[in-house]
Amino acid sequence: MPQRLETSRLLLREPTVADAAEIFRSYTQDPLVCRFMIWRPHASEAESQGFVGACIAAWEQDSRRPYIITKAGSSAAIGMLEARLNGSTVDCGYVLARAHWGNGYMPEAVAALAAAALTAGYFRVQAFCDVENHPSQRTLEKAGFAREGRMERYIVHPNMSAEPRACFMYARCR
Ligand SMILES: CC(C)(COP(=O)(O)OP(=O)(O)OC[C@H]1O[C@@H](n2cnc3c(N)ncnc32)[C@H](O)[C@@H]1OP(=O)(O)O)[C@@H](O)C(=O)NCCC(=O)NCCS
Repeated sequence: MPQRLETSRLLLREPTVADAAEIFRSYTQDPLVCRFMIWRPHASEAESQGFVGACIAAWEQDSRRPYIITKAGSSAAIGMLEARLNGSTVDCGYVLARAHWGNGYMPEAVAALAAAALTAGYFRVQAFCDVENHPSQRTLEKAGFAREGRMERYIVHPNMSAEPRACFMYARCR
């Protein structure tokens, strides 16, 4: 996967240590943003620093490509989009600060990532989301993904329930 991806409005780039303060301020501590994530809201900036450190380290290895999303012309993180590399499949996870919801940014970012992955030789780009996470379902539909099915008891979203919840699986393939 490329180190940078550009869309008409966005830049996706590698994380830096300096991103931790901005993501903590803008979304990692926000319970509404974290509602359908697999992690709990961060309690301190130090927790976001640890997370960003793990993301930077991931770029040194083969299995994950966590991108910081910024608006074109700005260095400030507005969210993240992670590509998890698994054989011929790329699995995506994404999050955007609440102040930037509703502008179509994440469908734009996910569509660019999927196109790059399929061009790079991957055959399948997939993402799953909670059956109650309608904004995420719309994101994937607008990014050209097809809903393939519903998976019962698939994953724990700890801010919703301690028990695994149902998810929809989406994919874009070549
Ligand atoms: C899911 C998410 C990434 C969507 O990103 P986005 O750039 O706002 O996407 P869009 O602007 O295309 O909006 C997608 C849908 O969100 C909903 N939406 C739009 N503005 C909204 C707002 N201000 N508040 C809440 N939902 C909103 C709408 O249902 C919209 O669908 P529509 O275009 O059919 O009306 C973003 O809502 C988010 O970060 N949510 C929290 C983290 C999360 O759930 N990540 C996905 C885990 S699987």
